[in-house]
Amino acid sequence: MIKLAIIGYGQMGKLIEQLAPEHNFEVVSIIDPLLGNEISEESLSKAEVCIEFTTPDVAFENIQKICKLGKNLVVGTTGWLDKLEAVQKLVQQNKIGMVYGSNFSLGMNLFFQMVNFTTKLMNKMDNYEVFGLELHHKKKKDSPSGTAKILSDIVLKNTDNKTSVQFDKLDRKIEKNEFHFGSIRAGNIPGTHLIGFDSAADTIELKHTARNREGLAIGALKAAEWIIKRKGLYNFTEHFSEIIGVQHEA
Ligand SMILES: NC(=O)c1ccc[n+]([C@@H]2O[C@H](COP(=O)([O-])OP(=O)(O)OC[C@H]3O[C@@H](n4cnc5c(N)ncnc54)[C@H](OP(=O)(O)O)[C@@H]3O)[C@@H](O)[C@H]2O)c1
Repeated sequence: MIKLAIIGYGQMGKLIEQLAPEHNFEVVSIIDPLLGNEISEESLSKAEVCIEFTTPDVAFENIQKICKLGKNLVVGTTGWLDKLEAVQKLVQQNKIGMVYGSNFSLGMNLFFQMVNFTTKLMNKMDNYEVFGLELHHKKKKDSPSGTAKILSDIVLKNTDNKTSVQFDKLDRKIEKNEFHFGSIRAGNIPGTHLIGFDSAADTIELKHTARNREGLAIGALKAAEWIIKRKGLYNFTEHFSEIIGVQHEA
């Protein structure tokens, strides 16, 4: 069993604790202000690796402390990427391994790879036009979703005749070089992302629908298992195939 410390006992921390045993982890420490403890040499003494899902305002401080204690680390908290260079130095100086990422979902990372492959293929087909759509529940505060932005980067990178993305409403006809990506907010719709290809004869659609956070927690546990044998700083999406152990031809 791999000895794991969970930093942040919120929705993600609790789910990781629940799923840890079936993924060969023993939770040896849980750190959260509500539990009245903090990161220290003593509280992390038994841990081989830490998984951090806290809040953007404390993530960098936590990363600094954990690096200095020489512990391997997986960080799911977002909002600290402006400090990436400083983190890179800390990871090197303290000779640890760290994985970070803004989307640890296994399904979504598989979806990114499918969209990457499919847009390269469809780039050779003049008679199909690519489009995107994302749907979320009415409580979501932002649009487009962060995932929609990642997907549009993949589409633009692989599609020669699309040079910009159009997320907003249009008061005119869409330009030939514009990739249209729409957003819908209503009811309780789970996070849904769709990339479509339309021709006069038919429509082809690739669609990902999130049901719960389990895929995110499992992704973080896979990253923790992978990083204990390595040193250096890695992005989850960039190293996804190695982390889940599925190699394929791009
Ligand atoms: N990368 C991904 O795939 C992914 C997926 C889901 C979420 N996230 C991100 O991960 C973060 C956590 O998400 P969540 O849904 O689990 O949030 P959450 O339910 O709000 O949990 C955050 C937890 O961290 C605790 N915390 C705050 N400061 C801390 C500190 N200094 N040390 C230890 N724990 C601390 C909070 O305690 P208090 O409540 O007592 O302050 C809370 O229990 C968010 O930034 C979210 O955007 C990323």
